Amino acid sequence: MTDRPARLVVLVSGSGTNLQALLDACADPAYGARVVAVGADRDDIEGLVRAERAGVPTFVKQVGHFTSREHWDRALTDTVAAFEPDLVVLAGFMKLVGAQFLERFDGRVVNTHPALSPSFPGMHGPADALAYGVKVTGCTLFVVDAGVDTGAIVAQRAVPVEDDDTVESLHERIKVAERGMLVDTVGRMAREGFRVEGRRVLLGR
Ligand code: GAR
Repeated sequence: MTDRPARLVVLVSGSGTNLQALLDACADPAYGARVVAVGADRDDIEGLVRAERAGVPTFVKQVGHFTSREHWDRALTDTVAAFEPDLVVLAGFMKLVGAQFLERFDGRVVNTHPALSPSFPGMHGPADALAYGVKVTGCTLFVVDAGVDTGAIVAQRAVPVEDDDTVESLHERIKVAERGMLVDTVGRMAREGFRVEGRRVLLGR
């Protein structure tokens, strides 16, 4: 990345608390990044309201509005590319991006997942961890590849599972750790740069 603030495009599908943490961090010029656009795969979500409140441009690309998944992926790719991101952050984005997207933003797309990879990939990380009975779970920030939550790991934080946890209480505890991980790590990626060597992601130049 360069000396100017890194340009972030953030994609969301829901409440957008991770997005909010990034927006708040970016309010400090020393953070080294700014959110230049927020995209979603659905209307009427709190994440889009958060972006609008912060004065950040938004866009929506719904899969159902396109004749195929490939057309959706092309439209999403072109729209994100128009904002010239240095880094694309998937923050609770509940769709798999496609081949065109990954090719265009090769190695510059990160996703936050509410489990300690490689355990419990997919849509139900907290529920799957609770059902398995693990005593420790957490969150993972990774560089997106063509798999489901399989990309090279940038950061992880551990979170204890309590005996009386529900899926909701566990997920809320994970999300507190997740927001800290996301803000700390995206800031370092923006300020210090990063490189991917095989399965390892190295921060710094
Ligand atoms: C986060 O916990 C994120 O890791 C998860 O959705 C939540 C979004 O919360 N994403 C996934 O499960 C993707 N597989 P938020 O909308 O409040 O940021």
